[in-house]
Amino acid sequence: MAVTLVLPILVFLVILYLFLTKNYKYWQKRGIPCPDGALPGIGHFWEVAIQKITLAEWCCKIYNAYRDRSMVGIYNFMTPTLMVREPELIKTVMQTSFTNFHENGLKIDPKLEPLLANNPFFCYGEKWMTGRKRLTYAFSSMRLKILLETVKQVCETFQDYLDKKIGKAGKVELELKELFTRFTSQVVSGAGFGVDGLSFDEFYAMGKSFLDSTVLNNIIFTLVFFVPAFGKIFKTRFLPKKADHFFRTIIADVMEQRRKEVTPRNDFLQLMTDLERMEGDKFDLEILTSHVVSFFFDGYETSSNALSFVGFNLASYPKVQEKLREEVMSVLNKYDGVITYEALKDMTYMDQVINESMRIIPTLGLLSKVCTEETELRGSDGLVCRVERGVHIMIPVSGLQEDPRYWENPKEFDPARFGPDRKHNIEKFTYLPFGEGPRMCVGMRMAQLQIKACLATLLRKYSIELSPKMQLPLKMVASNFLATAKGGLWSIIRPI
Ligand code: HEM
Repeated sequence: MAVTLVLPILVFLVILYLFLTKNYKYWQKRGIPCPDGALPGIGHFWEVAIQKITLAEWCCKIYNAYRDRSMVGIYNFMTPTLMVREPELIKTVMQTSFTNFHENGLKIDPKLEPLLANNPFFCYGEKWMTGRKRLTYAFSSMRLKILLETVKQVCETFQDYLDKKIGKAGKVELELKELFTRFTSQVVSGAGFGVDGLSFDEFYAMGKSFLDSTVLNNIIFTLVFFVPAFGKIFKTRFLPKKADHFFRTIIADVMEQRRKEVTPRNDFLQLMTDLERMEGDKFDLEILTSHVVSFFFDGYETSSNALSFVGFNLASYPKVQEKLREEVMSVLNKYDGVITYEALKDMTYMDQVINESMRIIPTLGLLSKVCTEETELRGSDGLVCRVERGVHIMIPVSGLQEDPRYWENPKEFDPARFGPDRKHNIEKFTYLPFGEGPRMCVGMRMAQLQIKACLATLLRKYSIELSPKMQLPLKMVASNFLATAKGGLWSIIRPI
């Protein structure tokens, strides 16, 4: 009796084991180094799956464990994934042979999320090219000067908000991610679709109500990142239903309003409306709404994330803060105290500080691409890999940006690395906070513009220091895809 029961269970377990480990000789057969300890079905991702470390930290760990190798083979759950470690190989993937690796690892189901279907990040071929061209135009110098007018208004609201918070106490304790998300959500709403009548708190509440992710969501997204098929099973959406509904309603209302207006607006929505009309396409409210969603979705969380870590670094390094304040004061003096496009351009030490902050803590610690055409990669250590279609490629952004081979004292926060006399020594493809090649972040200049305007507003009037509430050393929340500090980034802000 016992044998008749145990035997089928054993057979089932053996078949399950063989199925879950069927790919685990993939890298061995190709002579590519591969870490031991791939678990059936989970591969090398146990520590990430149980939320012990972040994806970026895990990626860094593998990067550091294979110092002298150009490539490392790993199993993300059951899928073979190739980590490329050498700048020259990264250049091949992101630039030279871009067409063979043009797909991003993250995918959406256009039927489930039509409002994200036109976002260049999720598009390929003709659709990607059109979307990319439009956004490149939307963020040209001429357009950025126009968008800066809205950003300047938000800077004023930001200053009023801080003054009110500081009040008679003479100081205020604030969490930086929250503070800067208030700023960026108002920028994307104002510059995106001309909604500017709400208060800082109302904008923040609006974005937070539908874009703030729960721990469960974050875990599911991490899984979907590795195994896109999970997306179909869980029916995961990057844009929650609530947000989909919100944007459709608000854009329909705004467009209705605009039909009655005589003076044309100057925001992103108006630009996209004009481009759709000029290109002779049928006027489609859904397409228009999707452009606005791209603007909101790509610009809101990434920029506030970067800003919050710049704020944290300024609070941690008072001398850097003082030097940057001197630059802000002297440049603004030259421009009669007005934050103009040219004034921001002249704040070059500020660029150094932002660059260094994004080196130490990149918003995205790794990038993922998919091979779409078989390609041979040859490393300087003699490794040769014929990358097959469908194999995922992992680009270890954090690992490269902390590698002592490319950065002297990499743990040290030193904006001078990006100074005029030293920045030319930085090896290409070792600094990737905005990616590289034809798919490089198209909103980079918009992000830099709003980050710089916000920092200039902050530093000209206030000082920032770490609050006793700040948990040090900095640890990251394992479930979050973007770098997120455990316990928050707490600071004390005072008028100077
Ligand atoms: C500090 C803020 C930002 C960071 C750190 C950031 C980072 C990135 C990164 C790493 C990529 C992938 C690049 C690659 O695959 O090579 C990307 C792509 C993209 N970003 Fe950003 N981004 C930021 C702000 C923005 C803003 C403000 C916008 C627009 C409003 C934007 C729009 C996009 C788009 C549309 C893509 C896809 C480009 C393509 O695939 O052709 N980003 N971003």
